[in-house]
This record gives sequence, structure tokens and C-alpha cells, in this order.
Amino acid sequence: MATYTKHHCWSLLLRLFHWMFALSIVFLVVTGFYINDPWTNTMIEGSAAWPMANMRYIHYLAAYVFSAAVAIRLFLYIFGNAQERILDILPVTGRNINNLFMTLMQYSYISDKHDERLGHNILAGLAYLFTFIAAIVMIISGFYMLFPEAPFWEGWGLALFGSQQFARYLHHILMWWFMIFAVIHIYLCVWNDVKEPEGLISSIFTGVKFKHKA
Ligand code: HEM
Ligand code: HEM
Repeated sequence: MATYTKHHCWSLLLRLFHWMFALSIVFLVVTGFYINDPWTNTMIEGSAAWPMANMRYIHYLAAYVFSAAVAIRLFLYIFGNAQERILDILPVTGRNINNLFMTLMQYSYISDKHDERLGHNILAGLAYLFTFIAAIVMIISGFYMLFPEAPFWEGWGLALFGSQQFARYLHHILMWWFMIFAVIHIYLCVWNDVKEPEGLISSIFTGVKFKHKA
């Protein structure tokens, strides 16, 4: 019978980041679709119900939660524990490059070998890093649309996107990354949890993972 040891893996702050990020995205996507193409009867827009104003209000509230989550992750990339720091997920050491290769082989069903490590596998880590960068683009384009005359957002907005219309276009297109990412992410978390008894899914609630006893 295999024996496992219990390891503390994710800090409370990382788990807080995860759920702030995941839940705010659900609200941002739903209200974002509404802002793009309101599905209610437009005759009620001018009435007291004013759904567009409510949807935009929810979008901005969720946007502040989302931005706070991204600030937390930035902090953890620098000051987090060993699994949370940025160097742990970059393919910059022999061990990490090997892990990236092994994960690709395992995910494509070419090999069954699993590299047991406490933190994210490198493929996942790189996808999270890309998502983090996409999140920063969402924040800058979002605040550029919200406060176009505030010198700070106007400066960044003009420098990165030029027109507001282009910022809105990118903001919209990038939304699809978050939706596609979420589907693949949840699928892969379940897949990993079925294949390897590390307690992956519960780790994002409890912070604890399991490893084979050496
Ligand atoms: C993953 C995060 C986010 C998603 C998926 C998202 C999605 C969307 C979508 C689809 C739209 C409609 C764009 C269109 O007209 O086609 C929109 C509009 C907008 N979003 Fe976001 N958004 C996100 C984050 C943010 C953030 C962080 C802010 C910051 C304040 C923000 C502020 C805005 C603003 C100001 C608009 C324009 C509202 C208007 O034209 O009335 N969004 N968002
Ligand atoms: C039922 C829903 C979800 C579950 C059970 C879940 C579970 C997990 C688990 C187990 C991890 C750690 C995986 C690993 O070690 O690689 C993780 C990480 C992560 N998840 Fe989720 N997730 C969910 C929804 C979402 C959604 C909707 C998003 C955003 C679109 C998201 C974004 C992330 C990110 C960015 C990380 C990396 C954390 C870090 O930066 O260290 N998750 N999730």
C-alpha cells in the first residue's frame, strides 16, 4: 500500500487570490457579454430598471476584486512561498525543463510517467503566467475605458492601445482567453486528480498536497 506524506503547499493568500480571481471572472464575463450586446428589451433601458447601468455597476465592482486579486498574485510571485514564486514555474532549471517535457508527454498520452513535485507543473505555471499578463491587459484597457481622462490611465491606454475603440476590441477578444482557459483548466485539474492521488483539487481549498513517502 502506498504511503503518502502531507505537505503545506499554498498559502492562505494564494487561495484567496484564486477564488477572488475565479469568481470575479464569472461576473465579468456575464456582465461583459451584456455590455457588448444587451439581451433585455431596450425599451426598459430608459426606465427605473435600467439594466445596463446595473450590469456596468456589477462589472466595475467585480473589476476591483479582479484587480486586487492580480495585485495579490504579483506580490506572491515575488514574496510568496517556494511554490508560489515566479522562478518555480519558469523553465530555467534542468529540473523544470524536464518537468515541462514530461508533462507534455503525459498530457499527450505518449508516456504515463508523472513528475511528482509540490508546486504547479511547468506547463500549468506558464499558462497561469500568460493568464496573469492577460489580466494586466484587461485591467489597463478596462480602466482606460472607465477613466479615459485620468492622466494615468490615459497615458498607459494611449501608449499601449492607441484609440479607446482598439482597447475595447482587445478587452473583448481577450475575454475569450479567460473562458477557454477556465474550461481547459478545470478539465485538467480533474484529470490530474483522477490520475494522481496528490489531492490537487482540495489543495486549492486547504493549501495541502500529498506526496509519495520517499
Ligand atoms: C477577465 C476580466 C474581464 C472581462 C472578461 C471583461 C469583459 C468585458 C466585455 C466583454 C466588455 C464589453 C466590450 C464590448 O463592448 O464588446 C467589457 C466592457 C468594459 N469593461 Fe471589462 N472585462 C474584464 C475586466 C475589466 C476590468 C478589470 C475593468 C476595469 C475597470 C473593466 C472595465 C470595463 C469597461 C469600462 C467596459 C466598457 C463599458 C461600457 O462601454 O459601457 N473590465 N468588459
Ligand atoms: C471549479 C472551479 C475551479 C477549480 C476546482 C480550480 C482548481 C484549481 C487548482 C487545483 C489549482 C492548482 C493547480 C496546479 O497546481 O496547477 C488552480 C490554480 C489556478 N486556477 Fe483554478 N480552479 C477553478 C476555477 C478557476 C477559474 C474559473 C479560473 C480563472 C479563469 C482559475 C484560475 C486559476 C489560476 C490562475 C491558477 C494558478 C494559481 C497560481 O497563480 O498559482 N481557476 N485552480
